[in-house]
Amino acid sequence: MWDLLITDIAGGGAIAVAGERIAWTGPAASVPERATEVWSAGGRVVTPGLVDCHTHLVFGGDRSGEWEQRLAGAGYEAIAAAGGGIAATVRATRAASEDDLLDSAVARAAAMAARGVTTVEVKSGYGLDLDTELRMLRVARRIPERVPVDVVTTFLGAHVVPPEFEGDPDGYLDLVCGEVLPAVAAEGLADAVDAFCERMAFDAARLDRLLATATGLGLGVKLHADQLSDGDGAALAARHGALSADHLEHTSPGGVAALAAAGTVAVLLPGAAYVLGDETVPPVDALRAAGVPMAVATDCNPGTSPLVSLPLALHLACTRFGLTVAEALAGATTHAARALGLAGEAGVIAPGARADLVVWDADHPAQIVYWVGLDPVAAVLKRGHFVEEA
Ligand code: NIG
Ligand code: FE
Repeated sequence: MWDLLITDIAGGGAIAVAGERIAWTGPAASVPERATEVWSAGGRVVTPGLVDCHTHLVFGGDRSGEWEQRLAGAGYEAIAAAGGGIAATVRATRAASEDDLLDSAVARAAAMAARGVTTVEVKSGYGLDLDTELRMLRVARRIPERVPVDVVTTFLGAHVVPPEFEGDPDGYLDLVCGEVLPAVAAEGLADAVDAFCERMAFDAARLDRLLATATGLGLGVKLHADQLSDGDGAALAARHGALSADHLEHTSPGGVAALAAAGTVAVLLPGAAYVLGDETVPPVDALRAAGVPMAVATDCNPGTSPLVSLPLALHLACTRFGLTVAEALAGATTHAARALGLAGEAGVIAPGARADLVVWDADHPAQIVYWVGLDPVAAVLKRGHFVEEA
């Protein structure tokens, strides 16, 4: 006897749930077993719960003032060079208490969940010292106490060089590799390690040993790669068997080939490109032709992407990057789960996967992606329980 049977899904399907897992899926006309509760989707579309596989949603302060400066013509890298940008958020995050960081992160995570997200990745990277990096990751791990999402955490200690190591990136990476990352690993606070491979942060040669240290500790590897310039980030990620290489606006054909050979997921972040006003688009045609799985995420952060709607990120991925609706939806489900090492566990409707589902006020999948700002969520099932119903 199953716990729940969802019937009358658009297309004529049904889904059975037992405990926290999907037990069966098939045509509503041939259901092989009974369930305690039967719930009709009323002919609406049901998808896997969305997976936002790249966010920086724990941080102190905000950077709306910088955004106004950029509207008036200031550049993102110029603001950073003058001590603003990521460094400004580092100051605000270091000054914030754990409770304050949790409250603001919970507000953003709740907004994401209301728009269909049931699994979210959260990065550190605004502490850049031992205490604050650990605090950020602890806060991230506590989000599910208050929001119905699973959280996957990523250590982004190599985001930029902090002010106390100005001009000494190698000295800072000594600290990260020798002290901070081992402490993060010892506390079990991170599932993966990420870094910002960019001219304003760290070059590929320097990041080699960090990524090797991460894999040596049994952690997955991800990389902010080729976002503002081609820094050979995609090839670096591929060389370390990365779960994902993210951004990729400036990736070369050689970088695309390396990702394909390594089986690394390309994570596209159209919100950042949109907010920065960057017209350069990732090499989507080449990624598609090479068979590189493409995920789409919000990159929610206070600098380049103050975006909490994953459906809006999917809309931008279609309109600005040229994805099809099917590619966009796969990019926020199956491929996003793979980018987090959760293939088969999340982002899929199949027996054994987490029973994370979204019922949409839509009778065709395109309606999920087509609206700008509607995010037509009707109901969410998280690990087998309804959490929102309209
Ligand atoms: O993904 N590129 C690096 N990190 C973020 C931006 C961080 C910030 O500006 O605060 C990104 O775009
Ligand atoms: Fe990012």
